Amino acid sequence: MEIRTLTWSDFEEWSSLQGSRYAELGSNPELGLYTELQPPSPTDLANYFAGVMAGILENRIVCNVAVDGGRVLGHASIFPVGDHREKRHIGSLGMVVRPEHRGRGIGRRLLSKTLEDCVGKYEIVELTVTSTNAPALRLYRALGFVERGHLPRSFKRGELYLDEIIMSRPVASSR
Ligand SMILES: CC(C)(COP(=O)(O)OP(=O)(O)OC[C@H]1O[C@@H](n2cnc3c(N)ncnc32)[C@H](O)[C@@H]1OP(=O)(O)O)[C@@H](O)C(=O)NCCC(=O)NCCS
Repeated sequence: MEIRTLTWSDFEEWSSLQGSRYAELGSNPELGLYTELQPPSPTDLANYFAGVMAGILENRIVCNVAVDGGRVLGHASIFPVGDHREKRHIGSLGMVVRPEHRGRGIGRRLLSKTLEDCVGKYEIVELTVTSTNAPALRLYRALGFVERGHLPRSFKRGELYLDEIIMSRPVASSR
């Protein structure tokens, strides 16, 4: 398995990974990923993918994929938190590993490489994680993220409310 930057040829695999969260919701209503009201259409996915690729080429976005035998097993991405000049030193993390490949260390490898690739682009990486997402919390803490805040009931899916935890880490950390 290799961890590398997203490329144009990853579009189909990347799209299937993006779309897989909607299927997972049926068996995992606490899935700690944000979703749209409707699963994205092929056009939505193509536009989004093109935006991510443009961000990578312009050095604004870091997006790595874990690839094995041509299959994209997971991704970790760091996007600017906003366009404001005062926020340009901060990146926001999102990541997912396909359900059947979780718990094998792929997330840890993906995130480590992605943080390394942020050097020179960002100074701080921030994220939010639902408070019941034990594997993600364990991974983030292990890689040096520190809890900075707690947002009660800030994640609502149907009648399910979850708290969110804000975490951050300097890019240039010893871990
Ligand atoms: C979070 C996620 C990306 C981690 O990827 P992964 O490949 O499973 O991560 P790893 O295999 O490196 O494991 C991460 C840690 O979680 C631990 N873990 C796994 N299942 C666990 C569980 N049920 N409870 C507690 N810890 C668990 C692992 O033991 C590992 O810790 P360790 O290295 O100290 O042993 C993956 O679980 C995922 O895609 N989840 C759904 C999407 C999501 O929540 N994304 C993050 C949004 S903030």
